[in-house]
Amino acid sequence: MSEAGVSEQERAEADMLRVSNLEKRFGGIVAVDGASFEIERGTITGLIGPNGAGKSTVFNLITGVYNPDAGRVIFEGEDVTGLRPYQLVDRGLVRTFQISRELSGMTVLENMLLAFDDQLGESLWRTVVPGVRRSIVEQERALLERVWETLELFEIDHLAHEDAANLSGGQRKLLELSRALLTDPEMLLLDEPMAGVNPTLEKKLLERIHELRSQGYTFLLVEHDMDVIMNNCETVIVMHQGRVLSRGSPEEIQADERVIEAYLGGEI
Ligand SMILES: Nc1ncnc2c1ncn2[C@@H]1O[C@H](COP(=O)(O)OP(=O)(O)OP(=O)(O)O)[C@@H](O)[C@H]1O
Ligand SMILES: [Mg+2]
Repeated sequence: MSEAGVSEQERAEADMLRVSNLEKRFGGIVAVDGASFEIERGTITGLIGPNGAGKSTVFNLITGVYNPDAGRVIFEGEDVTGLRPYQLVDRGLVRTFQISRELSGMTVLENMLLAFDDQLGESLWRTVVPGVRRSIVEQERALLERVWETLELFEIDHLAHEDAANLSGGQRKLLELSRALLTDPEMLLLDEPMAGVNPTLEKKLLERIHELRSQGYTFLLVEHDMDVIMNNCETVIVMHQGRVLSRGSPEEIQADERVIEAYLGGEI
């Protein structure tokens, strides 16, 4: 079928996520001021912009951390505006945070178990907490295996019994991404996943993201490192002052005068 023959519905189905006219105010500050964009399924898209552009707030609006003052969030063709974060996780939309939220005082393994819902999480806990003996049913055994496989995939399995507080910044980012993957996501929103990550770990993290993308996962990535964005994303969305300033391929974005101006005029 020709390009012109693609129906509006088919186009909508190709989009994993669509946000339209999102707005969020904090008192007198307009953090997001009518942002609209779509993310194609199975892609790695970069969301960039100067400090304070509204990137993290957009993440918070998409993932139900905040309710928008206006606008809609459409995920896999369904309106999910106003759903709570756990409801979105159930639908396959997960995010990681700019500041990692690992719980100190818990091991890496215990942090991973937090990815599962309450009831299952609780029974899994009993299987790993020392001194609590209990027969492991098949389902739990399979899930624990998945936990270990994921830790191995990110090469942090040797840290399983380490207190999460003792991990380096980069190892925490790997833990956060590992945990997000355990929730069976379709789409992952990563807020500055490379911040504080050493070059070796960064390479590893990017390799994992590409592997997962080739398996069909969709990524939206906020990142200040322009090399990371330009070398790994097929589409880049630029935010400035709460709005989408530009959207295009890395080459198009790098040549866009408005983008260059936004960065020069900002604090970067
Ligand atoms: N909870 C909040 N209360 C008040 N103001 C907020 C809140 N969250 C964000 N803001 C403000 O909204 C604007 C957008 O912030 P946001 O954190 O979304 O930007 P960002 O693009 O993620 O920036 P950075 O690159 O520095 O992480 C900023 O002016 C910020 O100070
Ligand atoms: Mg931010």
